[in-house]
Amino acid sequence: MVDVANRMRGLQESSITAMTVRCQELGAINLAQGLCQVPPPPSLLAEGARDFRDIDHSYSAPEGFAVFREAVADKLKKYSGLSVEPATQIVATVGATGALMATLTALLNPGDGVLLFEPFYGNYPTALGVLDLRAEPVRLFGPGFEVTEEALRSAVTDRTRAMIVCTPNNPSGRRLTMAELMAISAVAEEHDLLVITDEVYEDIYFGPAPHIAPATVGDLGRRTVTVSSLGKSFSVPGWRLGYACGPEGLMDAIRVAAESLVVCPPAPLQELGARALRLGDNYYRGLRAMYDRKRRALTEGFVAAGLSPNEPDGSYYLFVECSPLGVTTGAEATEILLQRSLVGTVPGETFYLHSPDLPYIRACFSLPDEVIADAAGRLARGV
Ligand SMILES: Cc1ncc(COP(=O)(O)O)c(C=O)c1O
Repeated sequence: MVDVANRMRGLQESSITAMTVRCQELGAINLAQGLCQVPPPPSLLAEGARDFRDIDHSYSAPEGFAVFREAVADKLKKYSGLSVEPATQIVATVGATGALMATLTALLNPGDGVLLFEPFYGNYPTALGVLDLRAEPVRLFGPGFEVTEEALRSAVTDRTRAMIVCTPNNPSGRRLTMAELMAISAVAEEHDLLVITDEVYEDIYFGPAPHIAPATVGDLGRRTVTVSSLGKSFSVPGWRLGYACGPEGLMDAIRVAAESLVVCPPAPLQELGARALRLGDNYYRGLRAMYDRKRRALTEGFVAAGLSPNEPDGSYYLFVECSPLGVTTGAEATEILLQRSLVGTVPGETFYLHSPDLPYIRACFSLPDEVIADAAGRLARGV
């Protein structure tokens, strides 16, 4: 009998998709989906439309066009202080997801353990499961969700070979501090772990301190593969353009894995992607100001509903502790918000391997201002 692979048993599509369907049925505002729903920079679209006929529509090299990798390297240098050689240390990929999958495929063996900081981006355990890798949780506790050396060290097992670090974090909105990254560096060094960093929200942060790329801290650069994409920074997640970069000795295998998975990232969009990456300081400042405004507006809605949302210092999510609603789980909280306010959110359980300590929900604020205002009004009136 033809059947599914053993490693696929128990793996499911995200519960966020189910919430999206319910929102459609009920006419609710969908803050569940992490989809970026703000428009891309108009200048980029205009240039793209003008040039599309003349752009290269064939395959690119598996590692992407040089023009794209050079733009990635320049941006990393300028905004993250990370020096990478575009010819040998960067592989362009199909989104950050493509970079993550190629890295896991290239550098780990079936059965290896990978540390995930709870709460984590819900796709990580599925990605690990698909590749027959083991998710090993490191429980972090709100409201701060700080990483400590002790928590990290006690999560390491005989099988641990790697960890995935997401900063700014989806869903908690936390950015890792220098002290936390030093703790990560110490434990990674002690156990000789690969560190994969997911920095897709690197350009969306609040407050003056710039993004800290983990690979620039301590000795982490030697053992870190940095993964990111253009999706969040330029509001073009559907372009599926991302990249992995890291030590030269690891990138060959990542390139081979990426090629075998998908041949190359979308070639016609790479040149346009390179232009996006060079948009400059004003663009990034505007992006952050826009998200700060949306963050404040949605926060007001939750506060008016009697809740105390976290104050994210990066990404575009609120992670809201909902015990004032008289619930013990995020799933119950989600249901109340959906029924009373017609606002769809994601239960905190989605971001943990085992139940979280408190009832959390995640709400995305990458939506047009008027939709956020509507959602905030509904929250205030409904709960
Ligand atoms: C933390 C995190 N990593 C990766 C991704 C996916 O990135 P991409 O669309 O570039 O594959 C997302 C998308 O929501 C995300 O939140």
